[in-house]
Amino acid sequence: MKVRLFKPSVGKEELESIQDSFKSAWLGLGPKVTEFEQRWSQYIGSKESVGVNSCTAALHLALAAYRFPEGKKVLVPALTFASTAMAVLYNRLIPVFVDVDETTLGISLEDLDRKCDKDCVAVMPVHFGGHPVPMDELVAWAKSRGLKVIEDCAHTAGGKYKGKSLGTWGDIGCYSFEEKKCMTTGDGGMISFDDPELLNPLRHVRWIGINKDTWVRYEQSEMGSSDTNGWYYEISDIGYKYNMNDLMASIGLVQLQKLDAMNRRRESIIGQYLNTIKDLDYIHPAIPYHLQDSSYWAFIVRVQDRERFIAHMQARGVSTGVHYMPLPMQPLFMKFAGATPVAESIWKQLVTLPLFPDLTAEEIEHVKESIRSYDGE
Ligand SMILES: Cc1ncc(COP(=O)(O)O)c(C=O)c1O
Repeated sequence: MKVRLFKPSVGKEELESIQDSFKSAWLGLGPKVTEFEQRWSQYIGSKESVGVNSCTAALHLALAAYRFPEGKKVLVPALTFASTAMAVLYNRLIPVFVDVDETTLGISLEDLDRKCDKDCVAVMPVHFGGHPVPMDELVAWAKSRGLKVIEDCAHTAGGKYKGKSLGTWGDIGCYSFEEKKCMTTGDGGMISFDDPELLNPLRHVRWIGINKDTWVRYEQSEMGSSDTNGWYYEISDIGYKYNMNDLMASIGLVQLQKLDAMNRRRESIIGQYLNTIKDLDYIHPAIPYHLQDSSYWAFIVRVQDRERFIAHMQARGVSTGVHYMPLPMQPLFMKFAGATPVAESIWKQLVTLPLFPDLTAEEIEHVKESIRSYDGE
């Protein structure tokens, strides 16, 4: 038996939804994107959302919205995917790597306080694996330092902390709908926020800086406008080709309806895994999974002899992953490295195991059995 690590849960409903876009023959940035943005805002409880083609783009634009002067610093966790810190570089800012909390693997509030100096302008917490950073404490701390908070929610969609959606605690929330994530649009991302004045310009910035997208111009002409200047638009700002399109949004609208059910299914699978490992002394959950109102993207464990464990699982056809080698260890980011001893020691034990809503009972049993049979080898 072969068990995949991640697999998008898509089917007939998504296909039907794409068909709608085919029928209207409007595939690019259009009404479906607007509908998805509105539904997403309602779902998480934010005023506005802007659909983009990835979370990487979302993080880039979220920072760009503040027009921080070149050379200012942004605090990011050492244990995260490249995009978090890459967005800082895109904006000609400097990433300051902060160590992670030993228990949650989220950004360490103590180390944040140590690493923050007068040049820091923002902090980008990552809800690692989907586990919430204590946002009440982080936001209060950031406010006291005059920092903006951009939540990197790539690992979570629909998760809550103290009853409030992740991504709505900070100034801006950035989400990923890449194919392996909690819900997908193939590739895709969303920027959500409560300050329309600051963020609405991003609707242009994601569309090469043009202040009137093609759909708006098309709608005006369809409505029989006699204005012969309908083609006219202005570009006042640097923009990017970062838009979400109607095909992605068609998938997203259906996935959003399934999201709560998919999150509950993930909770159920994680619960079964936790039950299996609770009495084993060679394997432990990497983060303190709280299986309520949760949206965990990955099931990650800590194992002493990681390479041997990975080889054991591979031999049984169970795919595994490692999330992540700390970014300051990557050649590009080495020159920004500071002391992040917890990330640098714990990452060596991390192994990601298969987690996706469509895992079958046989597949789950096979993963559990493979974990149990490791000790004896
Ligand atoms: C923490 C984190 N931030 C950002 C991203 C980027 O997401 P996307 O692939 O949608 O650009 C990822 C992707 O895995 C991620 O893990």
